[in-house]
Formats: sequence, C-alpha cells, structure tokens
Amino acid sequence: MASRKNRGGTDTCQAALEGIGLFSELTRAQQKSLARLMTCVPVKAGRALTTEGQSGREFMIIVDGQASVRRDGRLVATLGPGDFFGEMSLIAGAPRSATVTAETDMLIETLNRREFSSMLDENPSLARKVLVGAVKRLHELDAGPAD
Ligand code: CMP
Repeated sequence: MASRKNRGGTDTCQAALEGIGLFSELTRAQQKSLARLMTCVPVKAGRALTTEGQSGREFMIIVDGQASVRRDGRLVATLGPGDFFGEMSLIAGAPRSATVTAETDMLIETLNRREFSSMLDENPSLARKVLVGAVKRLHELDAGPAD
C-alpha cells in the first residue's frame, strides 16, 4: 500500500495490511487512497481503546495483537488481526456500546469520523462489510447475556 500517516515510526502496518480481509476486494487504486486516510498507531497492553457509554470519535482496524470487548464488565468478544471496531458509534452517532481494551501490545489503523465517512463513500464493498458487521453486533447487543 502507499505511504501513510504513521505515529509509531514503524512500517509493520504497511506490510500487514495486504492480508486484511476487509480490504481484499479493493482495487490497487482504492487501496492506495485508503492507505492515505489511515494512521498507524502502536498501543500498549492494558489501554482502553473505547469506553462504554462515552462518545466515540475513531474507527479502528487491528493490524496486530488482541483486544477484548466488554459490556457491563462481561466479556462478549475477543478481536484480533483483521478485525475492526468502533464503527457503531460513528454510524449511529450513539455512545460507545462496549469497552474495547488492548490485551496485548497492538498495532492499529485509526480513522477519525471524517476519514471513516470518506472510506465508506469511496469503497462500497468495504462499506457493506462494515455495515454487516455493525448489524450483527447490534443483534448480539439486543440478545443480551446468554444466561
Ligand atoms: P462502538 O459502539 O463504537 O464502540 C465499541 C465497539 O465494540 C463497537 O462500536 C463495536 O465495534 C464493538 N462491539 C460491540 N459489540 C460487539 C460484539 N458483540 N462483538 C464484537 N465487537 C463488538
């Protein structure tokens, strides 16, 4: 992928993005323009990336590492490389639905609200994947705890 903003001084994001399923249907030109929108950020284990109930400003894609998703303190999912999160607040303008915490040191790509909108506008196949993911998660939220 093309050069991008990089807050960690690492090229690992660039190399790993090639294998991310979310981007698999994009043309080279779409991949290049998307790469310019994203910022690669290294994250230390233990950091909260979203906090349930707070407003959300960023969409994130995991390049490396693992994150937990908790609602009311209960673990609802574990996310890894290729997974995305933070889309629900940005799409709905609602507070964060869950707390996402880095369980290991991580490398993530981040997009702010404006960059996220551009990404969806420019890449219909990717927009569909993000929306399908959001709707599935919404159903899981509706279903509530399994017990
Ligand atoms: P958002 O509500 O912006 O912030 C918390 C994020 O956690 C949410 O977007 C989703 O991306 C993610 N999330 C919420 N519920 C689930 C779930 N059941 N499985 C995986 N990820 C989830």
